[in-house]
This record gives sequence, structure tokens and C-alpha cells, in this order.
Amino acid sequence: MEPFSSLIRTASHEQHVEAETSTFMSDLLGGRLGVTAYARYTEQLWFVYEALESTAERLAADPVAGPFVRPELFRLAALERDLAHLRGSGWRAGLSPLPATRAYADRVRECAERWPGGYVAHHYTRYLGDLSGGQIIRDRAEKAWGFARKGDGVRFYVFEGIANPAAFKRDYRGLLDGVTADDLEKQRIVAECRQAFALNTAVFRALGEEFPLSA
Ligand code: HEM
Repeated sequence: MEPFSSLIRTASHEQHVEAETSTFMSDLLGGRLGVTAYARYTEQLWFVYEALESTAERLAADPVAGPFVRPELFRLAALERDLAHLRGSGWRAGLSPLPATRAYADRVRECAERWPGGYVAHHYTRYLGDLSGGQIIRDRAEKAWGFARKGDGVRFYVFEGIANPAAFKRDYRGLLDGVTADDLEKQRIVAECRQAFALNTAVFRALGEEFPLSA
């Protein structure tokens, strides 16, 4: 039988292409948007990671989601440093989720509270992506807006506690392959992963509307 890590990867491939090539992402990576758009995007990420990480402690003992809860992945502290750099010390007061972001964070929290397998789908979609394509985004952001390499503004993309991302991803895929669930539950997790991608794309769409391209 196909390992779960390749099942979930293949099943979300199409959505990945869609997210990657969304207008907002393309404009952002193409250097066609200002740092304000990047800051607004970073704010949206704060809500998503707050939902993923404020619930993580409770899931640490869960047999399905527990093995995925790894402190070296946590991004919230890094996001907060980036936001202080991007928005200034009052960043928290100005924070507001787009409706699409609120819907995304609500769904993550709902899974965390009621369905550990669903939480795994969201965990995979964000953290494995950050360890992969996130590095491309960091490189472009540093160049476009002059952040110090791996410094304030792009700390979200820097996993200080992970010396070898390729090895970490290999281990992570091993964790996916070790998920104890029957085929039906695995299909449900895969469907939630597709949903997680769709929630990301919806945030990109909303950001694209807020920052229509001028160049
Ligand atoms: C422009 C933006 C993006 C770029 C350039 C990008 C690029 C990549 C690349 C090159 C990989 C392959 C890494 C490898 O095989 O080790 C990857 C994997 C991945 N990306 Fe993205 N990505 C982007 C956006 C996203 C978004 C928005 C999400 C979801 C929120 C996402 C989620 C993932 C996931 C889950 C994987 C792991 C697939 C697997 O091996 O199982 N990516 N990305």
C-alpha cells in the first residue's frame, strides 16, 4: 500500500500548484508588492500559528497528533519578532484577521479540539511547506525589502532548532507513515489537507484583493 506520506503529498499536489501560483504569491515573490503587503500577510500567519500552537500542548499526549508536536517547529515567537520589526512595538494593537484568515484559524482550532487527525492535516500543510517553499519566500523577501539574512522580518522562515531540514522532513514523512488510522480515516485526513490548502488559497485571494497590483 502507498505510504501515507506520499498519498497526502500526491493528493494535495494540485492544490499546491494553485497556492503557489496564486496572484498574490506570484506578485509577492516577483517583487511587485511593497513591504506593507508582506507585513499584512505576516499578520495573517500569526492567527494561523496561534491556532496551531496554542492548542499544541494539549495534543502532546495524543497518540495520533502528539508525535507531530515538536517545539523546534513552533513559529509564533519568530512571527512576533518579525511583526515587531515590520509594524513597530504596537504591532499587537493593529492586528486584525481577514475573514478568510479567521475561518482558517477557526477550522484549525476546531480540529485541535475535536479531531487530532484533522490537526495533523493542518500541521503538515503549514510546517512541511514552511520547511520547503518557505525558504524560497525568505530569500525573495530578504532581497525585495532588504531584511538582514535570516534576521528580523524573515525569522518566521528560519528554523533555528532544525540544523538539517532535509533530514527533518524525512523523519516527518516517517511520522506520517506511522499514523495509526484505517483507510477511511486516512482519506478524511487527506481531504482535510486539501481543505487546508483551500483555506490558504482563500487568504491569498483576499490579500490579492487588498493589494491589487499597481506595477
Ligand atoms: C510560492 C510559494 C511556494 C513555493 C515556492 C513552494 C515550494 C515548495 C517546494 C519546492 C516544495 C518541495 C520540497 C521538497 O520536496 O522537499 C514544497 C513542498 C511543500 N509545500 Fe510548498 N511552496 C509554496 C507555497 C506553499 C503553500 C502556500 C503551502 C501551503 C500552505 C505549501 C505547502 C507545502 C507542503 C505541505 C509541502 C510538502 C510536500 C511533501 O513533500 O509532502 N507550499 N513547496
